[in-house]
Amino acid sequence: MTSLFEEVSEEPGTQVPVRRVAITVNGRRRTADIEPRLLLAHLLRQGLKLTGTHTGCDTTNCGACTVLFDGKPVKSCTMLAVQADGHEVTTVEGLAGASELHPLQEGFKDEHGLQCGFCTPGMMLAAKALLEENPDPTEDEVRWALSGNLCRCTGYQNIVKAVLWAADKLRETGGAE
Ligand code: FES
Ligand code: FES
Repeated sequence: MTSLFEEVSEEPGTQVPVRRVAITVNGRRRTADIEPRLLLAHLLRQGLKLTGTHTGCDTTNCGACTVLFDGKPVKSCTMLAVQADGHEVTTVEGLAGASELHPLQEGFKDEHGLQCGFCTPGMMLAAKALLEENPDPTEDEVRWALSGNLCRCTGYQNIVKAVLWAADKLRETGGAE
């Protein structure tokens, strides 16, 4: 019978296997040579210095690390960076236009949807994915869509108002942003 560990030797080599990845981050193609075990959240934060993506837990609950992966929200603490090879990632730094805030950013500001701001990048990206799929959500639908994102400051009420504010604005402007 083959042993699961037959490759293990007394003195493992010191070379750590490295993989080259190319990921389009906020519209810009970035390449990196990384260890296969590196988490996407850590590549974004330490490798690309996009520190708006936060890590608030190590059990995939908090959602502070949420980014958009080919437009869908993912928790970047629970994805290996090598899995993003050849894909598109949007972080909070990619939300604003050249001179204007994204309506979600405006909504969070106007409706006081943040306090410490730690959950906010992930909240806004999860909300962006919701509004692209459902431009006119009910309060319940917003709460459900953000249920993978924890906030310890706001009590959620103003976050919901912020998302509904952004939904109104995006509908008025034809979703131009
Ligand atoms: S850091 Fe908490 S879900 Fe990713
Ligand atoms: S604003 Fe502080 S965790 Fe949400």
